[in-house]
Formats: sequence, C-alpha cells, structure tokens
Amino acid sequence: MTFDEIVCARRSVRDYDPGRPVSEEDIRALFEAARLAPSACNSQTWRFIAVTGRERIEALCDHAMRPVVRNKWLRDAPLIIAGCSQLDIVANRVGAAVTGIEYYQIDLGIAMEHIVLKATELGLGTCWIGWFNEDETRRILAIPRRVRVSALLAVGYPREPLPDARPRKSLDAICFADTWGRPFAPAPPDGP
Ligand SMILES: Cc1cc2nc3c(=O)[nH]c(=O)nc-3n(C[C@H](O)[C@H](O)[C@H](O)COP(=O)(O)O)c2cc1C
Repeated sequence: MTFDEIVCARRSVRDYDPGRPVSEEDIRALFEAARLAPSACNSQTWRFIAVTGRERIEALCDHAMRPVVRNKWLRDAPLIIAGCSQLDIVANRVGAAVTGIEYYQIDLGIAMEHIVLKATELGLGTCWIGWFNEDETRRILAIPRRVRVSALLAVGYPREPLPDARPRKSLDAICFADTWGRPFAPAPPDGP
C-alpha cells in the first residue's frame, strides 16, 4: 500500500473478530513502527504495553472505562496497547519547564499514530481510546505512579463491513497561509 492508500483506508474500528488474535510478529512490527518515531530531544519517553490476556482486557473494560461512553465493543479486541510516558527523563522535563509544552504527549501521539498506520498496512483495525480512567488502568496493568497513561489503542481484525469515512473539515477551514485566518490557497482552476 502507498502512504496515501494507508491514510485513506484507516478508520476507527469498533467491531473486532474476537477469535482472531494479532500475531506476535505483527505486534513486534507495530512496536518497531513506534520505535522509529521522532521525539523531542530524541528523549523517547514513550512506553507501550501490549495487553492480550483475556482477564486483563476484561478488567480494563469493566473498571477502566469512563461512564457514558463505555466503549463496550472493546471487549472483543484481541489486543489493547496502553500508551504510556516515562516522566522522569530529564531532557523532556527541562524542555517542558522552559516552553510550557508537554512534549511527552506530542511524542506519544506521534508514536501511537505510527502504530495505527502500520496496523492499517497489516490489515488490522485500530481505535484510539481517550475516554478511560488512568488510575484504574495503572492499577490493572501494574504501571508505576510516575508513568502517565495518555491513551489506549484497540487493535484487531475488523469484522466486515468497515465503517464509512467520517466527515472532515475542508482545507480552507483548517489551513492558513502566512498569518492566522488568511486563506491557504484558492481552489485549483478546472482543466489543464
Ligand atoms: C485521542 C483520541 C481519543 C479517542 N477516544 C475514543 C474513545 O474513547 N472511544 C471511541 O470510540 N473513539 C475514540 N476516538 C476515535 C475518534 O472518535 C475518531 O478518530 C473520530 O471520530 C474520527 O473517525 P475515524 O477515526 O474513523 O476517521 C478517539 C480518537 C483520538 C485521536
């Protein structure tokens, strides 16, 4: 698949085949894609846990989801990746103290999206989960207090059919040229 094909094929998948596990080889390929991601000062604060044990997945579903959006479909996912950040890495803390930007969150987001795109290439579906309880997740996965958990990612083989693409804002609405609010580019003229 080309990069554009991968980007266009990706969807948030909320319906997984529980009988089809993700192979260790594929989990390794996902982690390898994360490992090569950029990070502020190359500090690589991200840490990932591949959760495949049924009991622990059910514990996450039962105790670590927040009310209202309980992500009930998560129970069928054969793999949940917990996206964590080790906060006691000096280079990362110094940068954040000076600029006020929490680089570890950016770094983790980039690395996890590498996982998402690699998974798409491997024919796997994914769904980011932000609506979860961090303390409960720490308890279930034995994650130390100094480590943040900023996102979970469901991974597995989608049951057909894949969901339709969700709408996106137009380029005009989100991209500017030179200064805030200045239109990015006029639409190209028709024809050659
Ligand atoms: C940081 C983040 C957190 C998200 N949390 C959830 C979640 O808790 N539950 C869920 O069903 N989808 C969650 N999503 C998926 C979004 O709803 C989804 O990406 C968005 O609706 C666009 O749809 P698409 O991914 O299929 O293009 C999350 C996505 C991101 C990036």
